[in-house]
Amino acid sequence: MKAPYDDYANEYLQATDSDFRRDVIDYSVHEAVGDVRGLAVLDLGCGDGRVGRLLVDRGAGRVVGVDQSEEMLLLAETHAGDRDRLTYLRHHAHELPDLGGFDLVVAVNMLHYARTEDELARIYQRAAAHLPPGGRFIAVLNDAHYDPDGPSIARYGFVIHQLGGPRHNGSELHQQFVDGDRVVVEVRNYHWLRETHENLLQKAGFAHIEWTPLTASPDSAARCGDGYYDGYLANPHLTMLRATLR
Ligand SMILES: C[S@@+](CC[C@H](N)C(=O)[O-])C[C@H]1O[C@@H](n2cnc3c(N)ncnc32)[C@H](O)[C@@H]1O
Repeated sequence: MKAPYDDYANEYLQATDSDFRRDVIDYSVHEAVGDVRGLAVLDLGCGDGRVGRLLVDRGAGRVVGVDQSEEMLLLAETHAGDRDRLTYLRHHAHELPDLGGFDLVVAVNMLHYARTEDELARIYQRAAAHLPPGGRFIAVLNDAHYDPDGPSIARYGFVIHQLGGPRHNGSELHQQFVDGDRVVVEVRNYHWLRETHENLLQKAGFAHIEWTPLTASPDSAARCGDGYYDGYLANPHLTMLRATLR
């Protein structure tokens, strides 16, 4: 059966080949993970494998990427080049079999695709099952604090609409990746409150739960101009979540 993203894998790749992705998401992930040399990393919802490539290029010992979309995994395989420390497997993160031990679990732009609280809970449980005490979980995900009526973030490539009435825990969001007036890809995802994430993380055994804003790479000023990302960072739709297994 087809998974979401099977039908628009190439469009997603195109949408994420952007300054915003490099300057804000990749940079924030890079800062959050710190020194990854020699680490074993599990990348949940790895998509086209961008995060895994970034991590092995910075010295990670091995990265296992899992994704439910065959088409996204094909892209990941294609872009892996000769990086032999990358492995890709097709699984639902919420039904992940035992893949062995890891030092770090990352999940970039995937947690907000969990359709139910139970699915989200199971993703956190499966992440915890792959970490030792003290193991780190780092995610970039939709920020429930994003204000849909606040400053537009369309110039940075995103338009987000609430579907079916006022926003509430678990309500559906319609997200467009845009390039000027052109919609490159449209996806559905879900609004989960920070408290929901925190409760489920705690139940799965995580502590030291921290939300931190994304930041823009200092190099971006030279390319895009000083303060170019200030408009985004004033009302970001994404945030960073970190937790440590007890
Ligand atoms: C927005 S893409 C992000 C891809 C990549 N992590 C990145 O940073 O660009 C979301 C990916 O998560 C995958 N995904 C969503 N929910 C999933 C789940 N429960 N199990 C496995 N993969 C999932 C989708 O198939 C898609 O490839």
